[in-house]
Amino acid sequence: MKKILVTGGAGYIGSHTCIELLNSGYEVVIVDDFTNSVAEPVRRVQELTGKTLSFHEVNLLDKEALDAVFKSEEKIDAVIHFAALKAVGESVEQPLMYYKNNISGSLTLFEVMRDNGVSNIVFSSSATVYGDPEVTPIQEDAAVHATNPYGHTKAMMEQILMDTSHALEWGVILLRYFNPVGAHESGQIGEDPDYPNNLLPFVSQVAAGIREHVTIFGDDYDTVDGTGVRDYIHVVDLARAHVKSIEKLTSKVNGTLIYNIGTGTGYSVKQMVETFRQVSGKEIKTIIGPRRPGDIAECTADATLANNELGWHAEYGLQEMIESAWKWQSTYPNGYRDAK
Ligand code: NAD
Ligand code: WQD
Repeated sequence: MKKILVTGGAGYIGSHTCIELLNSGYEVVIVDDFTNSVAEPVRRVQELTGKTLSFHEVNLLDKEALDAVFKSEEKIDAVIHFAALKAVGESVEQPLMYYKNNISGSLTLFEVMRDNGVSNIVFSSSATVYGDPEVTPIQEDAAVHATNPYGHTKAMMEQILMDTSHALEWGVILLRYFNPVGAHESGQIGEDPDYPNNLLPFVSQVAAGIREHVTIFGDDYDTVDGTGVRDYIHVVDLARAHVKSIEKLTSKVNGTLIYNIGTGTGYSVKQMVETFRQVSGKEIKTIIGPRRPGDIAECTADATLANNELGWHAEYGLQEMIESAWKWQSTYPNGYRDAK
């Protein structure tokens, strides 16, 4: 494997993965239409690594343009497919937009891969496919029953790829991410939401004085302190899991492999806020609100399979996750809008 096409490479996880790929000696071709990103991280990825990559502003739904990318970039060895819409609440309100972008966009990509003889892919799946798990930590053979349109698109894509790997002898790796947080150690690349849907970027903006308080969505769960527990994973560790997956595909995978990507350790909302307070030294006001519809009490990963089969281990703990998130937030309070 030499040349990797990364869809959604301008986004949060994609940009961190491009850094790890370039630092590991791969050539990188990004396809992104900036639906939920800007060009600046692509520039910074190259600046940070001292390497150049190839970028194409193309929507995955545009089959002709996508095919032209595959034809112009000779010999793509594998695809890492990040491009998708990812906001759970928005997916409930606009399911058709989610099915069109995430399913039709992916189907177009897979057809173009088939037509151009590319048969290896790593796909961004999510712990959301497990819905409300019966047992935690969750193993990969737990039942898949997503509970919202976004989650359904992930479960459907998994099935489509399993069927395709079987029929066309593709090598497929499905990575089920738990809760990605943090930023590159340089503080130059990070998560840049217009309005944060997830806990950590929200806490981060409160620490920075951009928002007034964090609402804790329920403190009456059956958990260590009543607040929701999640398995947070440093985005750089997550990025490295993709490099390990590409290495695995190099040894010729026939069929579909599925891996949870998390640390195995859960932290509550209150523990996250408290650690952020300590790291940033800032006041973080919290208010207890009602439970958020669809939320579950606890979700942690059993990542033993990824440890054993990918040779991947999470290296960073909570402290480093939050320190890096705060470095990014405090260096660029307005994210990439602060770019000169
Ligand atoms: P992101 O929004 O930062 O990145 C996604 C990128 O895909 C963006 O740059 C966007 O412009 C691009 N994109 C979207 N639709 C496109 C299309 N039709 N054509 C071309 N480009 C398109 O999101 P992220 O957090 O980096 O997530 C990456 C992947 O990981 C997604 O598939 C997401 O569902 C999955 N995932 C994310 C999380 C998380 O909490 N961030 C958790 C589990 C899984
Ligand atoms: C974490 C905890 C909230 C915000 C979501 C998606 C999942 C995946 C990751 C893409 C929960 C609590 C949050 C706030 C709070 N994304 N919370 N106040 O819900 O575990 O997962 O992102 O695949 O699919 O569902 O992450 O960060 O939103 O919430 O109290 O303002 O923080 O209730 O317990 P979640 P999250």
